[in-house]
Amino acid sequence: MIYAQILAGGKGTRMGNVPMPKQFLLLADKPILIHTIEKFTLESRFDAILVVCPADWVSHTEDIIKKYITDERVHVVVGGADRNETLMSGINYIQDHYGIQDDDVVVTHDAVRPFITQRIINDNIIAVLENKAVDTVVPAIDTIVRGANDQVTDIPVRSEMYQGQTPQSFHIKTLIDSYNALSSEQKASLSDSCKICSLAGQKVSLVRGENYNFKITTPFDLRVASALVEKRS
Ligand code: CTP
Repeated sequence: MIYAQILAGGKGTRMGNVPMPKQFLLLADKPILIHTIEKFTLESRFDAILVVCPADWVSHTEDIIKKYITDERVHVVVGGADRNETLMSGINYIQDHYGIQDDDVVVTHDAVRPFITQRIINDNIIAVLENKAVDTVVPAIDTIVRGANDQVTDIPVRSEMYQGQTPQSFHIKTLIDSYNALSSEQKASLSDSCKICSLAGQKVSLVRGENYNFKITTPFDLRVASALVEKRS
């Protein structure tokens, strides 16, 4: 089976003083989350599309899905305290509702990257069917500087640097084994899901993203996203 998992369990604190987690804010005529779900419903190879949201927002999520989406593959799942816990909540849902077979894979995506393209989704599906873990990246535009205590500690060669986006896609059994092999400190400190697999010694292959596929994080990003949507319509 090929699953999609849309990670919508965050609070969006960097968006500032807004009345709801940023994934539920309106982008033009509908919530950001709905724009993102729509891109996944266009892909017929997904057997199920899980939307993993905060516990307090389950009924709101169900309501907006009912209002905008007519696709029976979409299911709402309760997320976790951090992003990787949310990811594993979705995996537990798959285990409980469908069972996990040897060749099952999952394409996971941030709810707040509504400009994902069908090309990126397709490239993730092809890559994850051949590899155990897949990351979507764009070449770094700015030079990446490593620093600590107000000092530069390293300036890596820019041509070898990428910025990580999503989707991140996984062979599900490999992801579970890799996650279970981590210590609780490692689990708590990981901000990136592909690192679950790379720490466990798994190769992670790269798929090309798009600058367009940016994460709406701050009020500035929301203004840029609104301008892009208006220009398209
Ligand atoms: N996410 C999640 N579960 C969490 C935390 C984050 O599913 N416990 C999701 C967010 O909903 C978002 C994606 O992961 O779609 C990227 O998260 P990010 O924007 O970096 O974090 P947020 O917690 O949403 O925002 P902030 O860091 O500003 O609080």
